[in-house]
Amino acid sequence: MPEQSSTPIRADFLVVANRLPVDRKTGPDGEPVWRTSPGGLVTALEPVMKRKGGAWIGWHGAPDETIDGFEHEGYRIVPVPLSTQDVEEFYEGFSNATLWPLYHDVVAPPKFHREWWDTYRDVNRRFAQAAAEVAADGATVWVQDYQLHLVPAMLRELRPDLRIGFFLHIPFPPQELFQQLPWRRQLIEGLLGADLIGFQLPGGAANFIRLAKRLSGVKASRDTIIAADGRTVLARAYPISIDADGFKALADDPEVKAEAAKLREDLGNPKTIFLGVDRLDYTKGLRQRIRAFGELFRDGQLDPNETVFLQVATPSRERVEEYRKLRDDIDLLVGRINSQVGEIGNPAIVYRHESYPRTSMAAMYSIADVMVVTPLRDGMNLVAKEYVACHESDDAALVLSEFAGAAKELKQAYHCNPHDLNGMKETILRATTDSRAARSRRMRALRHQVFAHQIDDWANDFLRDLGA
Ligand code: ADP
Ligand code: G6P
Repeated sequence: MPEQSSTPIRADFLVVANRLPVDRKTGPDGEPVWRTSPGGLVTALEPVMKRKGGAWIGWHGAPDETIDGFEHEGYRIVPVPLSTQDVEEFYEGFSNATLWPLYHDVVAPPKFHREWWDTYRDVNRRFAQAAAEVAADGATVWVQDYQLHLVPAMLRELRPDLRIGFFLHIPFPPQELFQQLPWRRQLIEGLLGADLIGFQLPGGAANFIRLAKRLSGVKASRDTIIAADGRTVLARAYPISIDADGFKALADDPEVKAEAAKLREDLGNPKTIFLGVDRLDYTKGLRQRIRAFGELFRDGQLDPNETVFLQVATPSRERVEEYRKLRDDIDLLVGRINSQVGEIGNPAIVYRHESYPRTSMAAMYSIADVMVVTPLRDGMNLVAKEYVACHESDDAALVLSEFAGAAKELKQAYHCNPHDLNGMKETILRATTDSRAARSRRMRALRHQVFAHQIDDWANDFLRDLGA
């Protein structure tokens, strides 16, 4: 357990995110334990904070608990407490049942509740206050993601001396969808409190600028907006990445190699291993992917005696209705397929609904012959990049949805449309049966891309433009 202290601190560099990099859970003996928090935001920002130091302000994942700050991996952790009501209305409600589905092409229907909005605003104010207390004079504050849209403007009001950046990790939707939001103007104006607003793709930045002009009446030329108070606000794309060198070093570790060999053995040493790795989220296209594998096995296009599809899914947002439904659906679907194809004790689909340490993730990536990443919509998708960084051999393939932000960079992946089941099945088969030369050419190009644009480049580009 980390050493706690309540000494007040002042930091020159702050990350403000709903999630802290570590989550406080209760262990089997009732003792509190800290685990790495789920999701791509933490994977990406952790190495940045380790390198830069400073403070990370966020929620520690448990409701109704106030804990003191502590040092962690060379930087300061500053927990912001959330009550049970905050978790229900701000986190599960407005963040994950209103904004998350709305921003992901409404693949689930967004819900609009006025009480959720009130709590979202209150919690954003508390995050802004916490940042204002910790930031040193003229500090740089980097606010993250859709849970904290209002923080930039609230923080600027409290501390006009700060440089404030904001990065959105998920897609920013087109006008036709965003306009559904009853609080659309307030969200845009919250973001306009920043000096620099970063998006995954140029399309997101363009959507934002169009909306800012329309809803807030600001003037803009290309990526430069003039805010109501005369400040210049930049809106640009910064495609996020991973610590590719760090992932490769993990995959090269002898202990990870031994774990990989054991895993391959435990799976029955199949000729081909397909792998899926996701948070259990309806945006990730799991229903469609599993259905596609079910048909490929059932129709004899994949042989369950020499093929395994390993799917691992981290539990996520389990109290939100759409996530509960998804969990049940996937359990049923996998059970049904395995009862029809494969043998008892030797299932065609090996499904693990749990979270693994990063070493185990690296082991899985390194044994997967074909990685299958098929979100219906995804801001970036770091899993696709992690696979490329960890997989040593060129005799491999990445199947990637054209609706993941990563598809814009990973052009040599086997792209597919996850809504088109037959098309996705054909792409999976092609990625498996293409000539070795064709697969190798693609893998080499992917590797070049992932190692040439690592997470430090992303952070340096953003912070340079922020003038930090
Ligand atoms: P999102 O941010 O929507 O979850 P990303 O693909 O960008 O999607 O990032 C997911 C992150 O979570 C990756 O770093 C991946 O390694 C990690 N992850 C996904 N599934 C698991 C799992 N079962 N156990 C541990 N980590 C996981
Ligand atoms: C995505 C979001 C992050 C979020 C993560 C995990 O990566 O962009 O903001 O932290 O998912 O989701 P959770 O709800 O568990 O924080």
